[in-house]
Amino acid sequence: MIGPFKPAGSETPMGADVTIRACTPAEHQRVLELWREGGGPPTPTDRSEALERLFADDPDALVVADVDGEIVGSIIAGWDGWRGSIYRLAVSPAHRRRGIATMLVEHAVAALRARGCARIGALVEIDNDHGMRFWSAAPGFHRETGQTRFTLTG
Ligand SMILES: CC(C)(COP(=O)(O)OP(=O)(O)OC[C@H]1O[C@@H](n2cnc3c(N)ncnc32)[C@H](O)[C@@H]1OP(=O)(O)O)[C@@H](O)C(=O)NCCC(=O)NCCS
Repeated sequence: MIGPFKPAGSETPMGADVTIRACTPAEHQRVLELWREGGGPPTPTDRSEALERLFADDPDALVVADVDGEIVGSIIAGWDGWRGSIYRLAVSPAHRRRGIATMLVEHAVAALRARGCARIGALVEIDNDHGMRFWSAAPGFHRETGQTRFTLTG
């Protein structure tokens, strides 16, 4: 695990200090709350049991942005030994457009690379305007057009 760390330029315009660090299991309710208040489209795994399983399988995967002791952002950097996948990138509405998601992605990429991950991607729902705009601007990422996803239902 890389971090906790304070990225260069982590002083936000409002002067709050951002720390990117691993989430602790005791904080998982706050992360669920963050997703409910503005985490984009809800997912079936936005539940305590799913987060407890994630902590058990990969304790460093869930990383948060902390501003003055408050969790205001999240990211999951998943690694299955083959590809790295970024999930649940979210920043609380009051803290957006200050580079916090960019810091979270930089941290996730560095952590995945440190584990030997060569391919990293993020799935974005096409009708998620915030997500599409963020990822379209994210340095180093490009939109795949030649693939689609098949999901097991039921
Ligand atoms: C998407 C999200 C995580 C972005 O967080 P953020 O901390 O505001 O993002 P950043 O400040 O790092 O943005 C970096 C750049 O991305 C682009 N960007 C981010 N959000 C944007 C928006 N709503 N509209 C246009 N461009 C946007 C901009 O180029 C921005 O740079 P700028 O502010 O200098 O113009 C946040 O809007 C969010 O939590 N949305 C709801 C959850 C969600 O949709 N997550 C994505 C799932 S794929």
